[in-house]
Amino acid sequence: MYLILFGAPGVGKGTQAKLISKKNGIPQISTGDMLREAVKNQTELGKKAGEIMKRGELVPDEIMLGLIKERINNQDCANGFILDGFPRTIAQAQGLDKLMTALNLPAFKCIEIEVPDKDIIKRLVSRRLCENCGSDFNLITNPPPENMICPKCGGTIYQRKDDNEETISNRLKVYKAQTAPLKKYYRNKGDFFTVSGSKPVEEVQKEIAAILD
Ligand code: AP5
Repeated sequence: MYLILFGAPGVGKGTQAKLISKKNGIPQISTGDMLREAVKNQTELGKKAGEIMKRGELVPDEIMLGLIKERINNQDCANGFILDGFPRTIAQAQGLDKLMTALNLPAFKCIEIEVPDKDIIKRLVSRRLCENCGSDFNLITNPPPENMICPKCGGTIYQRKDDNEETISNRLKVYKAQTAPLKKYYRNKGDFFTVSGSKPVEEVQKEIAAILD
């Protein structure tokens, strides 16, 4: 299975990608997670990407394509993978097509998840994460413990630097200007589906599973 989960920040791409990954035994490739790891480790990439991410803008296409090229050549991608947060520009999509052709891999199925902007802002300002195991908490739907220690692994629970109202509005603007045009790109290729992300996680999961089956 070669799948792109597409949609604005906070629509639930990561949540659904993890569930699909677990069910189908193929990896979730989250470019946001890869970049946050680089920032945490203060690599050259992390130093460049950190400031860009704090502003809610996009890391340059050549860097992102380089990261993806390396990642999809890993052995764990041999039977497919789920892209979460990539591609985000037409140039990234075109670069990805070239990579897939060079590797003799089939076309992607693309599933868009849609949520109104006002709900996205509420979800993202309320999101909290475990810095160690990545477990996701949300002040509205799944509050973390008061001591902010992850019950699963004992890691510290934190808020992402780009999950504040100002940066979220910029991320939404950037999405509309640079990423939303990809809908037409993938619609024209066929195999493009849209689901509502406003329903409970399990219902969104069922709708996606029906498309994949
Ligand atoms: P990235 O990490 O990809 O962030 P994003 O696209 O903004 O997406 P999020 O992780 O915020 O949201 P999500 O859709 O995965 O939702 P989630 O499941 O977590 O990118 C961060 C930055 O990195 C970018 O701004 C950019 O700077 C850089 N970057 C990354 N990729 C790049 C690329 N390709 N090119 C250039 N730059 C790049 O859910 C959100 C919250 O909602 C959670 O708390 C969750 O519990 C809750 N939730 C989920 N589903 C539901 C539901 N159905 N009902 C209620 N709550 C729900």
